[in-house]
Amino acid sequence: MKLFKSRKNEAGRPDFDRLPRHIAVIMDGNGRWAKKRGLPRTAGHAAGAEVFRKIATYCKDIGIEYFTVYAFSTENWKRPAEEVEAIMKLLEKFLGEALQDMEKNRVKVKFLGDITALSEDLQKLIAETEEISKKYEGVQVNLCVNYGGRDELVRGVNAWIKEHPGQEITEEVLDNHLYTAGIPEPDLIIRPSGEYRLSNFLMWQSAYSELYFTDVLWPDFTTRDMDEAIIAYQSRDRRYGGIK
Ligand code: IPE
Ligand code: IPE
Ligand code: MG
Repeated sequence: MKLFKSRKNEAGRPDFDRLPRHIAVIMDGNGRWAKKRGLPRTAGHAAGAEVFRKIATYCKDIGIEYFTVYAFSTENWKRPAEEVEAIMKLLEKFLGEALQDMEKNRVKVKFLGDITALSEDLQKLIAETEEISKKYEGVQVNLCVNYGGRDELVRGVNAWIKEHPGQEITEEVLDNHLYTAGIPEPDLIIRPSGEYRLSNFLMWQSAYSELYFTDVLWPDFTTRDMDEAIIAYQSRDRRYGGIK
């Protein structure tokens, strides 16, 4: 008789020996979550930010290597100035707290996107957070801010043209000129809130990612929802164009 169950045998839990290395999430549905409660959209963003912390911690605890979140797209500038400002304030708050708790959390934080469009104060906080946290091993959290997949590709190609005028680009070279250089492609991309699109997220890197959609709004997303996404991922047959 077995006295102890291994973690992977727990009913309804993912197989922790076969976890995706890299999970990416499009953190969507904050506005609708707030509207449902008669709250301003910004309250939804605040609630979403808390869920981000909780899920990032969960990823670290179960042993996910890379956790990437889409926090603000190149298209999100179209929103009312007050909403954009509130999102930037939340980012500032997050960075301030992340810097304070760095030793405790030991998470490597990296920003993907054109952060030069952000305030000087934010840019400084980002640089500091990236610099101090780069020594940590375990989970790496990538925050996509002012990120757009098309923008990333155009920038990558232009950088290459500048460095090597007249030379053709290769897939490998382009890969190394993206914000995600050195980061493995996402194995699993999760989009909550019932939308079935990528909205300019990781256009190049998602070529062979497994996609998972759920109606749950991001501020309602729990560790159980993450488990379900991982379980779904573990039932997929990744063929990469080959046969099995
Ligand atoms: C995602 O939530 C957060 C950002 C895009 C910044 P939304 O603000 O898009 O929420 P919905 O889609 O309006 O519900
Ligand atoms: C995608 O959500 C961007 C982020 C979650 C940061 P959006 O709410 O901006 O996407 P659309 O407009 O529904 O495609
Ligand atoms: Mg949205």
